[in-house]
Amino acid sequence: MAGRIPQSFIDELLARSDIVEIVGSRVQLKKAGREWKACCPFHNEKTPSFWVSPDKQFYHCFGCGAHGTALGFMIEHDRLAFPDAVEELASRLGLTVPREDDGRGPREKTGEEAYELMGAVAQFFRDCLRETPKAREYLENRGLTSDSIHKFAVGYAPNAWDAVLKRFGGNDDAVKQLAQVGLIIERSGDRAGGYYDRFRDRIMFPIRDARGRVIAFGGRVIDQGEPKYLNSPETPLFHKGRELYGLYEARQSLRQLDRLLVVEGYVDVVRLAQAGILYGVATLGTATTPEHLNRLFRLTSEVVFCFDGDRAGRTAAWRALENALPHAREGRQLRFLFLPEGHDPDTLVAEEGKEAFELRVAGAMPLSEFVVRQLAAQVDIESVDGRARLAEVARPLVARVPEGVYRELLLDRLAQEVRMPAGRLTALLKLDEVAGDAPRGALGRNRQPRSEGRQPLLTQAIKLVLHHPPAALAVTDVNALRKVDIRGIEVLVELIEIARSHKDMRTMQLIERWRDRPEWTRLSELAAEGGLIDAAAAGKDLAKAIAKMVAEAGPGRRLDELIALSRDRKLSPDEQQEFQALLAAKGAS
Ligand code: UTP
Ligand code: MN
Repeated sequence: MAGRIPQSFIDELLARSDIVEIVGSRVQLKKAGREWKACCPFHNEKTPSFWVSPDKQFYHCFGCGAHGTALGFMIEHDRLAFPDAVEELASRLGLTVPREDDGRGPREKTGEEAYELMGAVAQFFRDCLRETPKAREYLENRGLTSDSIHKFAVGYAPNAWDAVLKRFGGNDDAVKQLAQVGLIIERSGDRAGGYYDRFRDRIMFPIRDARGRVIAFGGRVIDQGEPKYLNSPETPLFHKGRELYGLYEARQSLRQLDRLLVVEGYVDVVRLAQAGILYGVATLGTATTPEHLNRLFRLTSEVVFCFDGDRAGRTAAWRALENALPHAREGRQLRFLFLPEGHDPDTLVAEEGKEAFELRVAGAMPLSEFVVRQLAAQVDIESVDGRARLAEVARPLVARVPEGVYRELLLDRLAQEVRMPAGRLTALLKLDEVAGDAPRGALGRNRQPRSEGRQPLLTQAIKLVLHHPPAALAVTDVNALRKVDIRGIEVLVELIEIARSHKDMRTMQLIERWRDRPEWTRLSELAAEGGLIDAAAAGKDLAKAIAKMVAEAGPGRRLDELIALSRDRKLSPDEQQEFQALLAAKGAS
């Protein structure tokens, strides 16, 4: 069970499942031409804007922007984790999900034993807690009940250099495994060769994956000491940037997750749950990553970020906001809760109780409000300079929000704040021009969906491959394309390579390969976009778009870029040299 599900199996599963059947068994579908439509199950509506395409095996809602494959639908609609959705689809078809050891990464090589070892060590820490009055007293003083300690499987790592090592490191293989999961550390220097326990004399919080298996630990010092919290390192089992502490427990406690509250600390999560607020999760000493956001919004439609009211809290909130913008859309709520200075959820919920705390959560600031207030505070809108500056700071932010109702509302709200007609603000922000070369608009997300004629070449090309994967066979020179210096080109190259190497590849199979990657949302949007692409001409059109990109990427383009850059700032010596060289080349030709 531990291995990865082979991509070929997911391809097969998608090829053999019918999205109309899957969606149709959960939502009342009506035939509309070649497609099917319904009132969207992901947001409230009275007239149907939810479409299911049997050709593309894709669903798309023009109201809230929800979209995806059969697998995606099971994940979003039935709130299933990816492997569970695969299991479910497979069982409908009477297939068994194979697991592979493809040797591609350490994760695949880590078998069941690593999880078993982590589980056994967690149990050992729990036993130690029971036998250590000092540790029990500490938790008691912090107000944690034995129920919470049990629910979160809190333990204690003994004050010794070799407690875990001695107990679980019986032979060389066992020692190797302990080191691999981050529980022991190899000695360096003159005493080289031996190992010692990573966690000593600490309260231990096990971090569990979606299936409840222990994959890492966070250890807190008792009273004073540095660092206050010591976490497991990145290991084959544990990737800090994607895990959320408390998510497993939240899913166990609540049948449906209407909302998730993202806090900063382990104790915050435990304490909130103890107070009856069962939907708290924590990032693990890192900022919220795009991977976190993907996971959060797969499970719920409302995410509230909770921060301290101090400066550091505001800065952290801003960072979370920047990552959250691409996830903002109709039907989703993204809000920010700022606590009074000097408080964290742990102390606050203990002080004021569940109801008062939940009132705060209910009153948290919507993302749009946070953006608008921060922007308005940064600029003096009465001056010409101020308006120029507003355009400068707002543009990259607004551009990160997917096109749609949500973005329009955000612009309206911003226009109101700066007392400017919305149309004028939109013109000022020049969102239409951010497309191909925007810092983050790598895939040209800023175009109207139905105007593919004017979409940047890269977007057009990507769309062609997505809609008609066999078109990739018409591309003759992938290497020339690889050299094109446009952000996002590597996505096109990869799409083409995959489409070429798999016979009869279909849209949804391509999309599913991106599920855990940052470009996933944008690619699914492009796959869902309408527009009549002429299947017969797709190959030719793709080849043409690529030839154009390759031609445009010649020295002239880079020269223009450097000229533009030099207006904003002084060129670096390297850039100056490049500039001279390009100029000379141009003069010669
Ligand atoms: P805080 O320092 O805000 O502590 O760290 P806290 O959660 O309020 O801890 P208590 O209440 O004193 O026990 C917030 C989170 O940041 C990470 C941990 O995940 C912690 O829960 N952190 C903090 C670390 O990883 N290492 C540290 O040294 C400190
Ligand atoms: Mn705290």
